[in-house]
Amino acid sequence: MQIPKIKRVKGELRVPSDKSITHRAFILGALASGETVVYNPLISEDTKATLSILKALGTQVKTQGNTVVLEGTNYSFREPEDVLDARNSGTTARIMTGVLSTQPFFSVITGDESLRSRPMLRVVEPLRQMGASIDGREDANRLPVSIRGGELKGISYFNKKASAQVKTALLLAGLRAEGMTEVLEPYLSRDHTERMLKLFGARLITVPEEKAHIVKIKGGQELTGTEVHCPADPSSAAYFVALATLAPEGELLLKEVLLNPTRDGFYRKIIQMGADLSFNDVREISNEPVADITVRPAKTLKPVSVKPEEVPSLIDELPILAVLMAFADGVSEVRGAKELRYKESDRIRAIVENLRRMGVEVEEFEDGFAIKGTKKLRGAKIETFGDHRIAMAFTIAGLLTDEEVIIDRPECVSVSYPNFWEDLMRVVELR
Ligand code: S3P
Repeated sequence: MQIPKIKRVKGELRVPSDKSITHRAFILGALASGETVVYNPLISEDTKATLSILKALGTQVKTQGNTVVLEGTNYSFREPEDVLDARNSGTTARIMTGVLSTQPFFSVITGDESLRSRPMLRVVEPLRQMGASIDGREDANRLPVSIRGGELKGISYFNKKASAQVKTALLLAGLRAEGMTEVLEPYLSRDHTERMLKLFGARLITVPEEKAHIVKIKGGQELTGTEVHCPADPSSAAYFVALATLAPEGELLLKEVLLNPTRDGFYRKIIQMGADLSFNDVREISNEPVADITVRPAKTLKPVSVKPEEVPSLIDELPILAVLMAFADGVSEVRGAKELRYKESDRIRAIVENLRRMGVEVEEFEDGFAIKGTKKLRGAKIETFGDHRIAMAFTIAGLLTDEEVIIDRPECVSVSYPNFWEDLMRVVELR
């Protein structure tokens, strides 16, 4: 796909709902007793994978316009007849491995080629400690993995990588384990599960400490079906915020964007760079903070550095942040982000390689990169590696580059943002 050239941004946009929150609303709804109504969920390839797995496990699901209604099973799934396919979705695979560890039957989870190469031991190891039998290639570090669950006991686990997928898998397994399950993290990872568990009536204890964040949950609690309203995804809004920041002129309003402090690192960082954002009507939706954001072009962008402790709050936004860094006045650096290598693609490689193709000076580190900003990017053929976030980030770079930019596999955006191209065309005036 050849990327057009932008003259200005205009209008307003409500980007699709948050992916992390939608996965959790579907999964908690299926685990609760009674009905759960999810308003405005994200319907994309990843969240469809979660829904089809929940259906294969016996959950009744109805879609009515913009809402999805789930009939909760109260943690009583039925043994699936076939392999469960998480497709491209790491969140689905890891969280469902935790959920299936509570079930006294045999199940197998697999995924597409990218997901089958991503690490699973981070979640398999603690679940084994809780008592689940999990098997697979490389000691079950790679999908497909088979799970035989039931009879779990609570553990205390140090979640060294601050992975919210791991934390969620353990908390949802912990709800059906004997005694207390405790997850400690060096930095607080996204806390949507904790917030949503409270909506479903669960009690949990959170202890923010200097050295570690701790969350504890007592086994044997029931979840009660409820209503969940999903806010707009800050990771999807980030592409448009970057576009409006770099555009020659115009103004863009992004509505109802989730601004949870464990997810807003990108927004805080680009304000440091000199981006012109204003946050209006800050409010709460289903226990999550949201705001409307007005974005105007920045006159200049200052270089910034991202430190390891800042990474969890902006991990999924690093590809688009790297594009902004490529336009900054100096050298920016990201460190402590080795986890980027284990996402839908090796995102450090993908960022470094594609920025170099566009003529940007980039240094690659094992755990990050340094980018020397330039005013003019060169035309290039971009390789997305089939990764939605690389495709969207480099589309924004392409819109701002005078020379020809071509993106391969543009359809991969449907993993998180099926209408990305249509929404983009609504808010830009082209040259
Ligand atoms: C997610 C957690 C993060 C994030 C992913 C979604 C979640 O991954 O990168 O896109 O919904 O829990 P990790 O748990 O691997 O940090």
